[in-house]
Amino acid sequence: MSPSTPRLPNLERVPKHAAIIMDGNGRWAKQRNLPRIEGHKRGADSVEEAVTAADRAGVEFLTLYAFSVENWNRPKTEVKALMRLLNDALRKYKSRFGEKNIRLQAIGRLNDLPENVQKSLHEAISATSNCTGMTVILALSYSGRVELVEAFKSIYRELELGHLDPAQLNEKTIDHHLYTRYYPDPDLLIRTSGEMRLSNFLLWQLSYTEIHVTTTLWPDFGQKDFFSALK
Ligand code: FPP
Repeated sequence: MSPSTPRLPNLERVPKHAAIIMDGNGRWAKQRNLPRIEGHKRGADSVEEAVTAADRAGVEFLTLYAFSVENWNRPKTEVKALMRLLNDALRKYKSRFGEKNIRLQAIGRLNDLPENVQKSLHEAISATSNCTGMTVILALSYSGRVELVEAFKSIYRELELGHLDPAQLNEKTIDHHLYTRYYPDPDLLIRTSGEMRLSNFLLWQLSYTEIHVTTTLWPDFGQKDFFSALK
């Protein structure tokens, strides 16, 4: 543990599944007269801090909203830079997560991602597939509404094929058709940079989740902030 690593506080309860809306990279850069991408770069460092903090605290699942379907509408240069950052990060995670016994997973419209990113993602996922520690789930090209539409389409197909009985449809049927069917619902949602909204994130899954909003901008978010959220 380096001298700057904050001490893990005594926690009465640790969420099984924490989810984070990482917001404020652009504002962080603007405050310093830097290009937005500098904020995203520092944001990528905060991702590693959050993963380390969650792992130290004993969180079992950590979902990170890394790129939304709406984010494709940003200027081309920003999208390209974000994809490059993501690709670099995934190549790092492939070995680093494995060393820490962390399993990487992803949810979203993954086929929308550039081919090189898809390749790095699949390599990191398969390299860590046997890890038995924490699971980190990256939401990429993700939209809660699109996820629900895809679930309803898949339920409709199963009804048509007679694989599902309409009389048996219930909440579990929807759960089982979501990207998140393998994971429990989040117990805690953290959102940085002060906005009080869900931004199309895990709309179904957050029904009973406790929400912690901090005004800290994502690039400034460190292990201490994660532990404060848990407290
Ligand atoms: C919001 O900041 C952040 C994103 C666009 C998503 C998060 C992306 C990262 C943390 C960078 C890399 C990610 C990984 C997984 C390596 P914003 O640009 O919306 O900020 P603003 O609201 O202040 O403009």
